[in-house]
Amino acid sequence: MMAKNVAEEVEASSSSSPLLSVEGASVEFWTGSSWLRVVDQVSFVVPAGGRVGIVGESGSGKTMTGLAILGLIPGPAGRLAEGSIKFDGHDLAQLPPAEMRRIRGNDIAMVFQEPMRSLNPMMSIGDQIAEGMRRHWGWSKKKATNRAIELLDRVEIPAAAQRAREYPHHLSGGMRQRAMIALALACDPKLLIADEPTTALDVTVQAQIIELFRELSDERDMALLFITHDLGVVSELCSDLVVMYSGQVVETGDVDRVFDRPTHPYTEGLLQSLPKLGAGNRELGFIPGNPPDPAALPPGCRFQPRCPHALPICETSQPELLTIGDRQSRCLLNSELSLQGVGS
Ligand SMILES: Nc1ncnc2c1ncn2[C@@H]1O[C@H](COP(=O)(O)OP(=O)(O)OP(=O)(O)O)[C@@H](O)[C@H]1O
Ligand SMILES: [Mg+2]
Repeated sequence: MMAKNVAEEVEASSSSSPLLSVEGASVEFWTGSSWLRVVDQVSFVVPAGGRVGIVGESGSGKTMTGLAILGLIPGPAGRLAEGSIKFDGHDLAQLPPAEMRRIRGNDIAMVFQEPMRSLNPMMSIGDQIAEGMRRHWGWSKKKATNRAIELLDRVEIPAAAQRAREYPHHLSGGMRQRAMIALALACDPKLLIADEPTTALDVTVQAQIIELFRELSDERDMALLFITHDLGVVSELCSDLVVMYSGQVVETGDVDRVFDRPTHPYTEGLLQSLPKLGAGNRELGFIPGNPPDPAALPPGCRFQPRCPHALPICETSQPELLTIGDRQSRCLLNSELSLQGVGS
């Protein structure tokens, strides 16, 4: 099978029109003397109703990618330097701010690791969930409040009618996270972007909330872009995987197939660092070394200083993201030959 570059592949697959298509998106920050690129030409798609996981170590650009989709890169120092973000027929990167605000919280919602970033401490939970429905749909206070209680009940908050009258600080961490999910669901988004939404929670609550995400996505046909450093969560929840390293996509593909046979040494390292169940301990392995500073990238491949398979060519040539079948991989060692059978 022939390797194609990403632009050709995006072109070829555009007829199937995914719900979200991020194409060549780069995020940069002004350092005082130059623009520092922290997300570099990221491309991936999220099908309508699909569940896609973005994984990568701290600093790999996951959050900035999510914020770029929503037009929320922190300004004035940050900018989307290039690329398009096509959602449901619009290029979000070109929309005027008022139009973007309408899409945000209506068609696309986001939940964060820290619920207090989204919840207003001065307003009852029920009122803040109702507020979006009143604003977007012009609903009466009574109708919106009833719907807010239904949503709180749906995210399994006990005694929802009573909780709706309480303030965020009355709720436990897990309950606050559920309230934030109810808030995100209020306007029936087609896409929910979740950025490490369970990282701060204990393991049992984390598992319950992951299950809730799965159920909500299924019953509402709501697409999910799930950002995490945890490949285990992605394997339970998502059908497709985007692996980021140092601001770039290094591998994408069907979750089961990537787990079965990673094509990038970084993905391989992440998989090896998963806790080994049944091995007598749950100690995490790790990939030796650290990701590079975006201001001081190594020559050649960005992963080469940590790569157990690196060859001299990896220090001089920058690998492109190549598409082979339904997989993409950014590794000079992935010759067509070694990838045969992976994509088909
Ligand atoms: N306001 C800013 N100014 C300059 N650089 C920034 C700013 N915000 C983020 N960065 C840099 O952008 C890069 C990507 O950050 P991002 O938050 O997207 O990483 P991440 O993958 O979400 O990491 P984590 O897993 O820790 O949440 C990092 O190198 C970070 O230092
Ligand atoms: Mg982050």
